[in-house]
Amino acid sequence: MKFFVDTANIDEIAELHELGFVDGVTTNPSLILKSGRDILEVTKEICDLIPGPVSAEVAATDADEMIAEGRKLAQIADNIAVKVPLTWAGLKTCRTLSSEGQMVNVTLCFSANQALLAAKAGATFISPFIGRLDDINVDGMELIADIRQIYDNYGYETEILAASIRTVNHITESARIGADVVTAPAAVLKKLADHPLTDAGLAAFLSDWAKTGQKIV
Ligand code: E4P
Repeated sequence: MKFFVDTANIDEIAELHELGFVDGVTTNPSLILKSGRDILEVTKEICDLIPGPVSAEVAATDADEMIAEGRKLAQIADNIAVKVPLTWAGLKTCRTLSSEGQMVNVTLCFSANQALLAAKAGATFISPFIGRLDDINVDGMELIADIRQIYDNYGYETEILAASIRTVNHITESARIGADVVTAPAAVLKKLADHPLTDAGLAAFLSDWAKTGQKIV
């Protein structure tokens, strides 16, 4: 499974990148706002640091303007995935840009039918938003499972990018179901290493080790 970091914060990306955990990055207008940076500048910095796909989202709602924005974002670097919303204009943009060989991430997906349309429009990635479905009492994981089955039934190559990840359990379940990628905030990815029994076991080992009076180096 590939790990993307869902942030436009360079320090967060760099910290996880040092461990080799960052296969790509996703950003969105809210994350750009949070970073306080210019979209073109910060996206270029991210693309220089991370060789994998870096999603940069269009802000227009009309297809022609979206296509123009997508082409401009695509000029930032070869590893840009242009992110478009799952609207008719977004699907049209996806079809146009993917026909030009551009990676496209179709975002704000909340149903299996939307995911089917994105695959038919040539999307590189489909981003179902798990956490936002959970927020309204709909099981986001069922959506991931439905999309996995539909894509496998017909051999669609669009990668399922599980998004709006709020907990480590979302990551476990996405991996179990077979999502190709998860994109999560750095804080959630870092929590994957945590386990209270690891902490307790280590404390006991360190205490016993101190009693031996030995040193390894
Ligand atoms: C995905 O590409 C989105 O940027 C992101 O996962 C949205 O997450 P949120 O629902 O926590 O804002």
